[in-house]
Amino acid sequence: MKILLLGKKGQVGWELQRSLAPLGELIALDRHSPELCGDLADLQGLAQTVQTVRPDVIVNAAAHTAVDKAESEPELARLINATAPGLLAQEANKLGAWLVHYSTDYVFDGSGSRPWTETDTPAPLNVYGQTKVEGEQLIAANCKNYLIFRSSWVYAARGDNFAKTMLRLAQERERLTVIDDQWGAPTGAELIADVTAHAIRHILQRPQDAGLYHLAASGETTWHGYAKHLIAQAGRVQHAMKIVAREVTSVPGSAFPTPAKRPHNSRLDTTKLQTTFGLGLPSWQQGVDRMLNEISTI
Ligand SMILES: NC(=O)c1ccc[n+]([C@@H]2O[C@H](COP(=O)([O-])OP(=O)(O)OC[C@H]3O[C@@H](n4cnc5c(N)ncnc54)[C@H](OP(=O)(O)O)[C@@H]3O)[C@@H](O)[C@H]2O)c1
Repeated sequence: MKILLLGKKGQVGWELQRSLAPLGELIALDRHSPELCGDLADLQGLAQTVQTVRPDVIVNAAAHTAVDKAESEPELARLINATAPGLLAQEANKLGAWLVHYSTDYVFDGSGSRPWTETDTPAPLNVYGQTKVEGEQLIAANCKNYLIFRSSWVYAARGDNFAKTMLRLAQERERLTVIDDQWGAPTGAELIADVTAHAIRHILQRPQDAGLYHLAASGETTWHGYAKHLIAQAGRVQHAMKIVAREVTSVPGSAFPTPAKRPHNSRLDTTKLQTTFGLGLPSWQQGVDRMLNEISTI
C-alpha cells in the first residue's frame, strides 16, 4: 500500500509519520518538500503530486490552524482548509484512493452542554471553523472513499500548543489566569495518529464505514482545569522544570478578547468512532501525563 502524507511536520503529521510507517510505503511531504509539491496553496502542484505518486491513501494533516490569524486572511484559510482538501478529494476519487482528513470542534457554535454528534448541524463562530466545514463538505461531495476525523484541543510534545504555553508561563509567573467557560477534551496528536492507522486498516476491509467521525480523548474539562492539571503534574514529574506558579485563577473567556470567537461547548460524542472501529479512547489526563513525561524543558 502506498500512502501520501501531507503536513508531515505538524503536531498530527509528525505522529502520523510514526503510526503510518508500518502500513506500507509512506511518502511524507511538507510545504517545502523539494521534489514533490506538498504545498496546499499550490493547487496545480498538489494535483500533480497525487497523479505522480498514485497513492492508495492520502492523509492530509496540513491545515491553516492559526484561528485568530484566519480572521484577517480568510482567502488563504479557505484555500488551505477547503479548496485544497476538495481538490485532494477529486484526485483521490479519480484514482479510487482513500482520503483521510481532519476537522475540528470549531465547526459548532458551542451552544448547550451536550456532546456534539456527527449528525448535529455545524454553525461555526469564526473563519477557521467556517473554512473547515467547507472542507468537510467539499470532500463529501467529491470523493466516495473518505474518512474525516473531527478532533479538539490538540497537543503534542512537539509543536506549539496551549500546554506548552502554560508550562512556560508556570516557570515565569506565580499567578496564572485561565479561561473556565469553554469545555472540551485535550486530545493528543499521538492518539489521533494511532486511531488513524487503525481506521485505515479497518476501512480497507469495510469500505462501507467511510464517513465522518468525532475523535477526542475521553472525559471533559475547561482550559482552566487543563492548566491546573498540567501544572500540578509538571511539578510532580518534571523536576527539570522550575515551576513557580502557585495559583491558577479562573476567568470567563470575555477576559481575553480575541479576533476569533471560540465555542463554549466543544464536547465531542465519540460513540460512533468507538463502535465502528472497536476502539476505546483513553482519558485526556492519561495522554497529557504521558506528554509531560516526554518533554524535556520548555
Ligand atoms: N490544533 C488543534 O487544536 C486542532 C483542534 C481540532 C482539529 N485540528 C485539526 O487537526 C489537523 C492537524 O492539526 P495540528 O494540530 O497538527 O496542526 P499544526 O500543528 O498547526 O500543523 C498544521 C501543519 O500544516 C502545515 N501547513 C500550513 N499551511 C500549509 C500549506 N500551504 N501547505 C502545506 N502545509 C501547510 C503547517 O506547516 P507550517 O508549520 O510550515 O505552517 C503545519 O505543519 C488540522 O486539520 C486541524 O484543523 C486541530
